[in-house]
Amino acid sequence: MSKKLSVTICTGTLCYVMGGAELQVLEEYLSPEIVDQIEISGSPCLDCCNQDGAGKAPFVKIGDKIISEASISKVVDAIKEELNVE
Ligand code: FES
Repeated sequence: MSKKLSVTICTGTLCYVMGGAELQVLEEYLSPEIVDQIEISGSPCLDCCNQDGAGKAPFVKIGDKIISEASISKVVDAIKEELNVE
């Protein structure tokens, strides 16, 4: 596997209080094979919370895609879609 898929979880105050806190345990919901193919990091603010039309917090960036109202299941689905795995 060449390049890992980047998964950036916003840990900014707004995203954190809007549900981002639960995303900190995201890795526990992923199989080891998937964890191997991604790179999870945090960001102090993805600059989405202040943009009209970006959707609602919390935000997570997967590759080039921004996921709004991110929940564990939404993020897990989006990661699987990007990686083309079931
Ligand atoms: S605090 Fe999360 S995008 Fe700004």
